[in-house]
Amino acid sequence: MSTQDLPGHGADLPAGVPTAGRTSAAPVIEIRNLWTVFRTAGVDSVIHKDLNLTIARGELLAIVGGSGSGKTTLLRQILGLTVPARGSITVLGHTAAELTRAGAAARVGMLFQHGALYSAFTVLENIAFPLRELGTLPEDLVRDAVMVKLQMVGLEPAHAHKMPSDLSGGMVKRVALARALIMDPPLLLLDEPTAGLDPDRSDAFCNLLRSMHQELGLTVVMVTHDLDTIYEISTRVAVVADKHVIIDAPPKEVIAFDHPFVREFFLGGRGMRAQELLRLHPYAV
Ligand SMILES: Nc1ncnc2c1ncn2[C@@H]1O[C@H](COP(=O)(O)OP(=O)(O)OP(=O)(O)O)[C@@H](O)[C@H]1O
Ligand SMILES: [Mg+2]
Repeated sequence: MSTQDLPGHGADLPAGVPTAGRTSAAPVIEIRNLWTVFRTAGVDSVIHKDLNLTIARGELLAIVGGSGSGKTTLLRQILGLTVPARGSITVLGHTAAELTRAGAAARVGMLFQHGALYSAFTVLENIAFPLRELGTLPEDLVRDAVMVKLQMVGLEPAHAHKMPSDLSGGMVKRVALARALIMDPPLLLLDEPTAGLDPDRSDAFCNLLRSMHQELGLTVVMVTHDLDTIYEISTRVAVVADKHVIIDAPPKEVIAFDHPFVREFFLGGRGMRAQELLRLHPYAV
């Protein structure tokens, strides 16, 4: 089932997200009949089988699924880093392969699952990396752009010259987010952005994402296991199970979907606690 089929699709986006053309414009991401097959030691394993997903402009979509269900692989395919065996992926009107050629960093910001800051580079050098790779901007403008992004993610300018090993876990995530945003991309992909953060830091990071989503009008696709994050900031949830998206809908509808993974993930002990947030949070109503 797709939310395109649901009455009121698009009406559940948070206040403040630009609405112009949301339902009529071409989707930001369109994945059609995607198959992913990895061959290891001569044996094929099918990771995705006829997976379909459409993401509209201005959404903050959470992707959930079991470990190894192919969530990171899906983000890598959207970025054009992994090529599907079959099916099509269109991102901002281009195929993923075209997007890579056109310079994906300018259009798609990515925060990788394992932080992935360059340990030998300072914070400034890490954030500046995609801009410097372009090689077209003078150094003083690169530095200015980095400082703007540092401020945007709530870090003091004094942190610019620190090494990643001198940062807390929450700061590493913020620096990685600043780097993902350095080219002002309209689309942001986040792979487990709050994993490993304590609840306070995770809340702070969610608040940051929410305000950026609203203020910059970004489309955000976020893989997460964190139910609090899902309920606090997502406008829609896509569940990957049985090698495809079994449902994509607002959190309340997903919880009511009858599937073993959904029951275990959303209605286990952890899930019931997080649902308290669903009652409190304005996005979910
Ligand atoms: N390049 C590759 N070659 C072979 N197998 C791969 C490759 N990349 C991923 N896989 C396999 O594909 C499956 C999906 O991996 P993926 O990293 O996308 O899962 P995930 O849903 O992100 O899991 P997690 O929640 O643990 O991060 C796994 O079984 C993984 O071993
Ligand atoms: Mg993963």
